Amino acid sequence: MTVTAEGVTNVEATKSGALEARAVSAWFGNHKVLENVNLFMPPQSVTALIGPSGCGKSTFLRILNRMHELVPIAQLSGEVLLDNEDIYAANVRATHTRARIGMVFQKPNPFPAMTIYENVLSGLKLTGTTVPNPDEVVETSLRQASLWNEVKDRLDSPGGALSGGQQQRLCIARSLAVQPDVLLMDEPCSALDPTSTRRVEETIHDIKQRVTVVIVTHNMQQAQRVSQQCAFFLAEENQPGYIVEAGLTTDIFGNPKDDRTNDYVNGRFG
Ligand SMILES: Nc1ncnc2c1ncn2[C@@H]1O[C@H](COP(=O)(O)OP(=O)(O)O)[C@@H](O)[C@H]1O
Ligand SMILES: [Mg+2]
Repeated sequence: MTVTAEGVTNVEATKSGALEARAVSAWFGNHKVLENVNLFMPPQSVTALIGPSGCGKSTFLRILNRMHELVPIAQLSGEVLLDNEDIYAANVRATHTRARIGMVFQKPNPFPAMTIYENVLSGLKLTGTTVPNPDEVVETSLRQASLWNEVKDRLDSPGGALSGGQQQRLCIARSLAVQPDVLLMDEPCSALDPTSTRRVEETIHDIKQRVTVVIVTHNMQQAQRVSQQCAFFLAEENQPGYIVEAGLTTDIFGNPKDDRTNDYVNGRFG
């Protein structure tokens, strides 16, 4: 395994689900919010994005699955490669990319009136995918999201009837049901109780063998618990965000190269 300023390049790069950002810059109108971000996010592994609010972590995550372009004034430059193929190539449909690269948001967003069962299958429905064994997909996905035992006797209840932590796990189950290559998670636990947080972390641990995970978190303990790589983002006042340092999580926390990384991971700012 080699660690460069851009992150971790890895002998496992041939396995599917390798995501790579090359020279990504981003704007909202004429406000530049990201500057030349390079990051390799290896398969079978969890990459944590850390850094203070406003430094572009969510924007970067949305660029990784083509949600950034949904904002009318949003622009970007650079490349994003999934298994060495540019997700922004002219012949690639955004809906295809978003099916392969799922996203879980800070605020759980299940369809509140839909049943738990239907919520899990809703992503498949959106992509027009029919499965021969929907019951099995629902159970497997809910088990992977550590929610099955809590809801198996009430799959016909509305998604909106669940607690916040359960709703978030339902959203994770919905994302996993389409069997994505990558799962992007934007502060998925910041509104959750400790039990749900632990369950989500267990899920991340379990799925990383099959799904490349990229997670934004402000919780430094969580970053250390769940991730193998970290990228530290920073933005000086009114300047675009950039990566100060990326590398193995053990190095970012135990032996950072940059003093600002050291200060941030030790809670001295942000
Ligand atoms: N939809 C938007 N329109 C205009 N500016 C935005 C939008 N979303 C984010 N920004 C700006 O982009 C910068 C980065 O924001 P964001 O990616 O949300 O940072 P973080 O997730 O690190 O807190 C901020 O200055 C924010 O105000
Ligand atoms: Mg954010």
